[in-house]
Amino acid sequence: MEFIKQPWRCVCLVLILMLGTWSSEATSRNLQDASMYERYEQWMVRYGREYNDVNEKQKRFEIFKKNVAYIESSNSDVNKSYKLSVNQFADQTNEEVKASRNGFKGREYSTKTTSFKYENVTVVPAAMDWRSKGAVTPMKDQGQCGSCWAFAAVAAVEGITQLTTGKLISLSEQEVVDCDTNGGDLGCGGGWPDGAFEFINQNNGLSSEASYNYTGVDGRCSTQATHAANITGYEDVPASNEEALLKAVANQPVSVCIDAGENDFLYYTSGVFAGSCGLEMDHCVTAIGYGVSDDGTKYWLLKNSWGTDWGEEGHMRMQRDVYAKEGLCGVATHASYPIA
Ligand SMILES: *[C@@H]1O[C@H](CO)[C@@H](O)[C@H](O)[C@H]1NC(C)=O
Ligand SMILES: *[C@@H]1O[C@H](CO)[C@@H](O)[C@H](O)[C@H]1NC(C)=O
Ligand SMILES: *[C@@H]1O[C@H](CO)[C@@H](O)[C@H](O)[C@H]1NC(C)=O
Ligand SMILES: *[C@@H]1O[C@H](CO)[C@@H](O)[C@H](O)[C@H]1NC(C)=O
Repeated sequence: MEFIKQPWRCVCLVLILMLGTWSSEATSRNLQDASMYERYEQWMVRYGREYNDVNEKQKRFEIFKKNVAYIESSNSDVNKSYKLSVNQFADQTNEEVKASRNGFKGREYSTKTTSFKYENVTVVPAAMDWRSKGAVTPMKDQGQCGSCWAFAAVAAVEGITQLTTGKLISLSEQEVVDCDTNGGDLGCGGGWPDGAFEFINQNNGLSSEASYNYTGVDGRCSTQATHAANITGYEDVPASNEEALLKAVANQPVSVCIDAGENDFLYYTSGVFAGSCGLEMDHCVTAIGYGVSDDGTKYWLLKNSWGTDWGEEGHMRMQRDVYAKEGLCGVATHASYPIA
């Protein structure tokens, strides 16, 4: 605590000395800065942030200030259907977060077309939340590793395993990160959910999280643990077709990839996300349901892998059935699911 209070006291002292000489405008700017600095240090404590030197701390403060200004300005727009918050990314630039976190490689994993077992589904429930069916494990955090593709695939495998066996078992993303080299899958360097499904199939199953836990760094592939779940393959949802995606998500959790690079996505905290989004696909998550909000907006329910501080306890409700056939943020372009 002592360490944290020290710089704040310095700032106060400087302010008092200067009060007499500075214009009131400058004073109010400094008071604002001082209170922003205090907020920054509280944020550092909350997210366990430490910086190596004062220059780094100052540089991070400048970025933090910009991000806070962006978040507050976005939140003051009453017409926005969603809110942002000053979360774990607040001391990084947009480019830095993208470089350290996201891990989807954009292009297709394979040009081969798969069958789509849900093509003839005609009736789907009005809403679905696979959590309420016991098919979703607690929220996970990929950390500073571009392993989103493994988390997106593994959550879908956890889902189909529960739906076919009745057992909800948290499964190992680390085994996928360490062992899967399909089609250029590169652990923390990024990969494809389809590559992960293929790996799990070739591997004759996947270990439990408990027996092969997550470290968030590329490790040596271990074949020690016994497998806790199995799949026989995967299928792709026909691309750029939210109706097809709906048929699939009505039947099981589905891996989807998106453009998650915009600030509104990074700082999202609640509501139905309808924000600015492109089609630079760089992240994958799991669609674990869908529904309609109180004001009638249709949404996808997405499980992210950025921990519970992000979004609605780690989830996002993302606007569904938008004008663009790719879906918002490209959500309908790279969807796929495992077959039990
Ligand atoms: C919110 O929407 C209303 C109605 O469309 C519009 O008149 C108003 O200017 C908008 N406010 C902002 C802050 O964009
Ligand atoms: C869907 O229906 C068509 C026409 O009856 C049939 O040929 C096709 O095999 C069905 N697809 C699946 C996945 O059952
Ligand atoms: C997974 O399937 C393969 C091939 O059918 C089988 O050899 C293996 O024992 C299965 N593993 C589990 C955990 O059921
Ligand atoms: C993973 O498991 C090993 C062995 O049980 C344990 O020593 C280590 O602390 C665990 N790591 C994490 C990140 O939970």
